[in-house]
Amino acid sequence: MSDFPLVVLASGRGSNLQAIIDAVNSGQLPAEVKAVISDKKDAKALNIAREGGIDAFWVDPKGYGDKAGYEQALMELIGNYCPRVLVLAGFMRVLSPRFVRRMECPIINIHPSLLPAFAGLDPHQKTLDGGVRYSGCTVHFVDEGVDTGPIIMQRVVPVYQTDDAEALSDRILKEEHILFPEVLKWLALGLVKREGRKVVIENEEGLSYEQESVDQSFG
Ligand code: GRF
Repeated sequence: MSDFPLVVLASGRGSNLQAIIDAVNSGQLPAEVKAVISDKKDAKALNIAREGGIDAFWVDPKGYGDKAGYEQALMELIGNYCPRVLVLAGFMRVLSPRFVRRMECPIINIHPSLLPAFAGLDPHQKTLDGGVRYSGCTVHFVDEGVDTGPIIMQRVVPVYQTDDAEALSDRILKEEHILFPEVLKWLALGLVKREGRKVVIENEEGLSYEQESVDQSFG
């Protein structure tokens, strides 16, 4: 039994959740996904959780009078599992500053761009429209803004002129599936320290975490 319980919030297909579960099951990530909560009844992430024997909940936002009531229900449910980290893996709702302040554990999120560029909705299309040559993904602590919290780690991919949003998304998603479990491992091992806006990863040079060259070939 791991002493690093996680609760995951997810709204959609759950590929990052799957990557986290796989990392736990393979022994790469010394943590345990205790519960998965979704705002969408038919989220694939809920099926992934159930298939993995993980508690899965649909908490319907329409079942509460307002956002505060909904978030209160979320907080109580999450609190039952005493997570060490609350993981946002494609959770498509903005959590209120009150929720963020009151959550007793850190909240982390993954975003498919190199933050602070292209925060918020439609990051892939914004990336293409922005004309940048490199993009990637970012895992960050959640603060009271949208995708504005301290950055823990990023991975980089090239952006090709022939890309559409789907091609870019597919390329970035592969890196997300490496990055998210790895960052959770560092958190579980107590290697991550917040120093204001900066995040320091202890013994970073000693970690076997490398990304192959992302140089573009235009040949
Ligand atoms: C990912 O691209 C993630 O970066 C973003 O939402 C998407 C979730 O995908 N926050 P999945 O549900 O994990 O497959």
